[in-house]
Amino acid sequence: MQIVHTLADLRRALHGASLRAFVPTMGNLHDGHLDLMRLARAEADRRSPQGAKTVASIFVNRLQFGPNEDFDTYPRTFERDCELLKANGCDVVFAPSEKDLYPEPQGFKVHPPAELADILEGAFRPGFFEGVSTVVHKLFNIVQPDVAVFGKKDYQQLMVIRRMVQQMALPIDIIGSETRRAEDGLALSSRNGYLSAEERAEAVQLSMALKGLAAAARAGNAAGTLDVAALETAAMDTLRQRGWAPDYITLRRQHDLSPVSGPCAEPLVVLGAAKLGKTRLIDNLEV
Ligand code: PAF
Repeated sequence: MQIVHTLADLRRALHGASLRAFVPTMGNLHDGHLDLMRLARAEADRRSPQGAKTVASIFVNRLQFGPNEDFDTYPRTFERDCELLKANGCDVVFAPSEKDLYPEPQGFKVHPPAELADILEGAFRPGFFEGVSTVVHKLFNIVQPDVAVFGKKDYQQLMVIRRMVQQMALPIDIIGSETRRAEDGLALSSRNGYLSAEERAEAVQLSMALKGLAAAARAGNAAGTLDVAALETAAMDTLRQRGWAPDYITLRRQHDLSPVSGPCAEPLVVLGAAKLGKTRLIDNLEV
């Protein structure tokens, strides 16, 4: 496995590859990221058995962090990340410095549409999806992947990226990888490392709230009595009573994340974000 830091070295490392499969990350890798890496390897070898290369980027992207968020403290675990990537089918790690990726202030940005990017995560983290779209678009230009793999844990992010690729006519297949969960059901996330032991034991309650809402939505849909607002309020109240500060727990249409009020035959997804102590967790569940 090669580790490169500059754009020129990356281009050299990928020169002649018959196909490129890409996993963008911010490092501090866990088993969920390794699922993405293994999926990228499998897709690369399936689509082009001779000469395909897999690439993972490690870059903590300042543009997607708000002024009061955890950019400075976001865990940087570069050496361990590289060992894990090597063991899971990665050919090239691209780990640019900020100067390599943003040699001058990034004045040109990718501004995603408000109806997709200013709701849910975007409403609570203004500018987040602009930062994500800008860095992902730039990384796509640099890596020029044929395939890129993202986690479904960041459901809205995956949707924004799919839409960007489609509207910008980027010739890249975007693959969504299922969320990896701990044994108790907590979705794996780099930010789980911020939780105290007590908070870690409580953290599963977010996925339980989503599961409960999903089950109630299925039942309400089957009976034709689905009252979404009541279910969302009840789920948030339950978390509040347990000491959480929920931003949203909500039932949406899978295809555009638009709200649902009553019975709905379209595929749905429950999404949630809530703070436990100082740690903000997100999760989702397709219904
Ligand atoms: O999901 C992430 O880790 C980041 O948002 C991404 C896609 C690597 C962009 O910085």
